[in-house]
Amino acid sequence: MYVCICHALNDKKVKAALDNGATNPASVFRHHNCQVQCGKCVPMMRSMASEHRAAMAQHAATVAATAVPAPCCGTAVPEPANAEAVPAYAIAAE
Ligand code: FES
Repeated sequence: MYVCICHALNDKKVKAALDNGATNPASVFRHHNCQVQCGKCVPMMRSMASEHRAAMAQHAATVAATAVPAPCCGTAVPEPANAEAVPAYAIAAE
């Protein structure tokens, strides 16, 4: 589907620009080395950019919710099963 007739930008090209960091219509045009002409595509690009941001935020929240913390970061090291046992060298020292 064409989004911008003036520059023959279809939805795949707009999405590619959004995936590469474009956040609004102006940056989508910059990504494709062009400038807005008639402006009829701007509302559609804004909508696509907004949906893209929402999808990225949801993805980030999902990744954060399912992330497993690294073992070195705040995870308590479990006590060994025989923590109460007195080591043999301690008995020898008494
Ligand atoms: S349709 Fe995009 S600038 Fe005209």
